[in-house]
Amino acid sequence: MISEIALNDGVVIPQLGFGVWQVPQEQAAEVVAKALRLGYRHIDTAQGYGNEQGVGDAVRGSGLARDEVFITTKCHNESHGRRNAVEALEASLERLGLEQVDLYLIHWPQPSLDKYVETWEGLIEARERGLTRSIGVSNFHPPHLERIITSTDVVPSVNQIELHPMLTQEPLVGASRRLGIQVESWSPLASGKILGDETLAQIARGHGKSVAQVVIRWHLQLEYIVIPKSVTPARMAANLDVFDFELTFAEMRRISALNTDTRTGPDPDVF
Ligand SMILES: NC(=O)c1ccc[n+]([C@@H]2O[C@H](COP(=O)([O-])OP(=O)(O)OC[C@H]3O[C@@H](n4cnc5c(N)ncnc54)[C@H](OP(=O)(O)O)[C@@H]3O)[C@@H](O)[C@H]2O)c1
Repeated sequence: MISEIALNDGVVIPQLGFGVWQVPQEQAAEVVAKALRLGYRHIDTAQGYGNEQGVGDAVRGSGLARDEVFITTKCHNESHGRRNAVEALEASLERLGLEQVDLYLIHWPQPSLDKYVETWEGLIEARERGLTRSIGVSNFHPPHLERIITSTDVVPSVNQIELHPMLTQEPLVGASRRLGIQVESWSPLASGKILGDETLAQIARGHGKSVAQVVIRWHLQLEYIVIPKSVTPARMAANLDVFDFELTFAEMRRISALNTDTRTGPDPDVF
């Protein structure tokens, strides 16, 4: 059973989801259908991933009720601005073949554009119109968070940020939590770069689990939402099989101590 988290607006999200960045459109329907058969109930896509149509085909073809699958999409960098953000979600819904997503995020703050407050107003409007159940942000730093909250009095439900043992982001996690925002980890396995680490391998051996499973478990125990991606069926299944063991406090500390503040993706302040 996948644990669930209640967001600050009451919307409930499965804590472990399935990320589909870099899953090509031609493969997306098959991969997401497989993920749903394995038991995933939360899919993380984005306008920028170019695979919303495949995600929608899989969800609609799954035989699952719409409210059994949580779907996130994200407002692309080219769609900043109040009206653009709403229209971009309408276009996403068309591609997904759905009436509503569960969570709509601003993908990147793009501070050099300086439009993220207007974009946030667009997300608020989209929620009011029922196009999404919940609204949040991604890659927002504390000044970006504070500015949209001060300007609109609406607190994002989620901040989806790059987060893994090489980049533990404690200050940003603390700031998000103080504002009542749920943290969600993207590239939770550091896009695979963390998987050869010897400390993690040792901890994994002690539990009879893989390094990826230990890292996913670390995210869960820190109460982050976590969205690993794999197109390999055995790994997709293994990444879900993380609810039958527990890392000790000492193991959690050892994993967090691997932090080197190393990003695999861009710095949101300059991207
Ligand atoms: N908001 C944002 O700006 C943002 C940015 C990046 C990502 N994301 C989200 O975060 C999701 C996950 O991030 P990600 O795709 O960068 O990377 P990730 O989940 O950290 O790692 C994926 C990589 O690890 C491999 N892998 C997965 N499970 C494994 C296992 N059990 N054993 C060994 N290798 C394994 C995958 O290989 P195979 O697929 O070949 O099996 C793939 O190469 C994305 O799909 C997307 O939804 C969001």
